[in-house]
Amino acid sequence: MATVSPELPRTISRFADAQALAAADMASVNALIRARLASDVILINQIAEHIIGGGGKRLRPMLHLLAAHAAGYRGQNHIPLAALIEFIHTSTLLHDDVVDESDLRRGRKTANALWGNAASVLVGDFLYSRSFQMMVELDSMRVMRILADTTNRIAEGEVLQLLNIHNPDTNEAKYLDVIERKTAVLFAAATRLGGVLAGLPTEQEEALADYGLNLGFAFQIADDVLDYVSDAGTLGKNIGDDLAEGKATLPLIYAIERAAPAQAASLRRAIETGGLDSLDNIIAAIRDSGAIERARACAQKYANAAKVALSTLPHSDARDALNVLADYALQRDY
Ligand code: IPE
Ligand code: IPE
Ligand code: MG
Ligand code: MG
Repeated sequence: MATVSPELPRTISRFADAQALAAADMASVNALIRARLASDVILINQIAEHIIGGGGKRLRPMLHLLAAHAAGYRGQNHIPLAALIEFIHTSTLLHDDVVDESDLRRGRKTANALWGNAASVLVGDFLYSRSFQMMVELDSMRVMRILADTTNRIAEGEVLQLLNIHNPDTNEAKYLDVIERKTAVLFAAATRLGGVLAGLPTEQEEALADYGLNLGFAFQIADDVLDYVSDAGTLGKNIGDDLAEGKATLPLIYAIERAAPAQAASLRRAIETGGLDSLDNIIAAIRDSGAIERARACAQKYANAAKVALSTLPHSDARDALNVLADYALQRDY
């Protein structure tokens, strides 16, 4: 890889090891993110700085950087690609918090809570179109096609999710369709593009994409579990947001399948009406039905599939780091 410090551990077995391996690249990505946020419209700087400065795990750029290294890439285009992938992600968060009426993100009040919906949507558009400017600078039709297709699928996922709101008859298949589009395809693009930069043969590029896609499923299912079992202080987001807006995620879908009839009826009602009046009862019903364990097992199945896909790539520290990230997607508490 471009920069490997001699003191790095020889075995990459923990999340911190994976972070350390990507740290030098990630510093360049963060510097570029800051540089490319700039606009002479002050409100854009304020809002963009607010959400970007809030941190976030930077998981998608990290996946891209490590995938590029696992693919043997030796150039520098992974830096702008990682930064623009984070811009795409951040723009979807600005829009998502408006749609979800959320007021906490990355431990801070959301942009919509502070500046209103209109400003959040418009600055989301700024970040989104900035990502396209950066894409064009890379001058690769293949890269542009992958990202254009990906962002289009994300938009479809968010609209599809909107159509399922307040629908107690939604099911696991529909839920998986939504999360594939709204979340997993961006993970898949992040890892695939590492292979594209390196010019990997098709089969290995597909393996990287397959890894990212499965990891994305695992990540979103874990996020949906955390929405019921974590706390705002740890998560940096409010708990119960999904239920509040009548969004039936996997824990709730599983709970309805297994709960006693009276409990199932009250869960269905909660989806129809939204709101958090009965959040404690709902959480209890979800726990009693074993839905949390089942959802975690489902996420684990995807994480395992991600690891299997990886195993077709040649061994490297970066590949080990990707392997660690498959576990991190589930074990994380925020
Ligand atoms: C939040 O993504 C949106 C989901 C797909 C669940 P992250 O959990 O990666 O958000 P940040 O970037 O770390 O804040
Ligand atoms: C986020 O889904 C998906 C996208 C950002 C496209 P969620 O609504 O579950 O994400 P959080 O929980 O608000 O981060
Ligand atoms: Mg949301
Ligand atoms: Mg969520």
